Amino acid sequence: MTGLQSPVGVRSIVTYLVAFFILASSIIFLFDKGHQDHVQMAVDHGRQEVQVKVEAELQEPAMRETTEVEDTSKEECNWSRGQWVYDNVSRPLYSGLKCGFIFPEVACDKYGRKDVMYQHWRWQPYECDLPRFDAIKLLEKLRNKRLVFVGDSVNRNQWVSLVCMVEASIPDDRLKIHIFNGSLISFKALEYNAVIEFYWSPLLVESNSDNPIIHRVDYRIIRADRIEKHASVWRDADIIIFNSYLWWRKQNDGMRMKVMYGSFEDGDARLDEMEMIDGFEIALKKLTEWLGENIDKNKTRIFFAGSSPTHFGASKWGGEDSNKCLNETEPIYKVGYKSADYSLMAKAMSYFETLEPRGINVQILNITELSDYRKDGHPSVFRKQYVPLTKEQIANPASYADCTHWCLPGVPDVWNEFLYGYLMYK
Ligand SMILES: *[C@@H]1O[C@H](CO)[C@@H](O)[C@H](O)[C@H]1NC(C)=O
Ligand SMILES: *[C@@H]1O[C@H](CO)[C@@H](O)[C@H](O)[C@H]1NC(C)=O
Ligand SMILES: *[C@@H]1O[C@H](CO)[C@@H](O)[C@H](O)[C@H]1NC(C)=O
Ligand SMILES: *[C@@H]1O[C@H](CO)[C@@H](O)[C@H](O)[C@H]1NC(C)=O
Ligand SMILES: *[C@@H]1O[C@H](CO)[C@@H](O)[C@H](O)[C@H]1NC(C)=O
Ligand SMILES: *[C@@H]1O[C@H](CO)[C@@H](O)[C@H](O)[C@H]1NC(C)=O
Repeated sequence: MTGLQSPVGVRSIVTYLVAFFILASSIIFLFDKGHQDHVQMAVDHGRQEVQVKVEAELQEPAMRETTEVEDTSKEECNWSRGQWVYDNVSRPLYSGLKCGFIFPEVACDKYGRKDVMYQHWRWQPYECDLPRFDAIKLLEKLRNKRLVFVGDSVNRNQWVSLVCMVEASIPDDRLKIHIFNGSLISFKALEYNAVIEFYWSPLLVESNSDNPIIHRVDYRIIRADRIEKHASVWRDADIIIFNSYLWWRKQNDGMRMKVMYGSFEDGDARLDEMEMIDGFEIALKKLTEWLGENIDKNKTRIFFAGSSPTHFGASKWGGEDSNKCLNETEPIYKVGYKSADYSLMAKAMSYFETLEPRGINVQILNITELSDYRKDGHPSVFRKQYVPLTKEQIANPASYADCTHWCLPGVPDVWNEFLYGYLMYK
């Protein structure tokens, strides 16, 4: 079906239908209690509108690392190959209770999580040490710069982690601010004129899920040839970290991606339907094209975060599936344990490689396997619930356990140690 050639009547019906679906899918969400995991993702940022907030309370300086490891990281060493080491001396890197910028969906200790081991694991590559994270060095590196995380709620999780990793080293609260502006959330370190932001764009290209608060998660439409609305926000950034994974997974066997071509304005809108993974390729293709044509390779460094594993299927590590990640307090110790899907990341790499002849290098933060071990790292029930729980849910905590996002301090701190290492040394 091509809109351009179809008779006007058909074309306008199609246009009408597309418009209807986009509208309906936004509205239906409000009434859609849906499957809990999805609702969680959809509403996990229930904070509202534009809000400029200057933190007022005094914060204490971060807990400092005490280990005296040298930065041997400049060598070629594969950071993805390693193991979790219990280290209650140098971890956590900050206090979740004291971080004034933490979000309620990942502030597990604030929401009742009592076990603390999950905060004490350090990732130890086999062949070297990760560079020691130094917030001041990072802020210096970011002086007069803008770093933007672009993606979904897992990427926002990583953004919150990075903000907590640096904010404690700015004890004067007048020198750090938080600004919520629709899809864009900014942290600013004023003395450094450094900006660390998160921009909501879960499917990379424009889609019916672009509203960070109201979006239906199980009926998705992407726009194959539209990315400019998003790109205009991050085009001038100095460092961009993309992610996109969660929203391309099939949540049921029949789930397909709707892909819209053309536009209402031009009257050539048409809608296709395809496998989720094929939709991912369309988004990657558009993003790659855009980067190739627009990015200033002398200015902007680009990263793509590997897929973040979930832990809903407890039988994979010898538990009961019905418990999901409930009550897990220790990592999986089996060396080489892998359950995550690496295929999307490989797909993404194959697109980004095509940019190399133009001198644009997209670096992959390969955090998938290390995160795969951490069945203990998720909020499960210890997070803010934006939708009041039903009696049935309260009676069965696994039914609403969040085994997708990560408690902070926790696993995403290591993703940021990777990012730090790349920014400083690679
Ligand atoms: C790092 O190790 C992982 C796991 O063994 C491997 O898949 C990956 O290709 C390695 N990366 C590099 C750059 O050698
Ligand atoms: C740290 O862990 C060690 C070994 O598990 C334990 O003996 C020690 O008491 C812990 N220290 C603190 C401060 O929790
Ligand atoms: C919010 O974003 C819009 C455009 O995206 C911009 O015009 C406006 O100045 C921003 N507001 C604040 C408070 O930053
Ligand atoms: C980027 O840097 C190279 C080498 O330093 C230089 O030749 C080129 O003109 C620069 N490109 C832009 C767009 O500034
Ligand atoms: C999880 O822990 C709670 C509190 O200790 C306990 O009541 C519950 O039975 C546990 N659930 C599972 C599935 O282990
Ligand atoms: C990432 O690492 C995993 C193992 O840790 C490996 O299987 C995979 O190929 C790597 N992917 C990329 C894109 O480097």
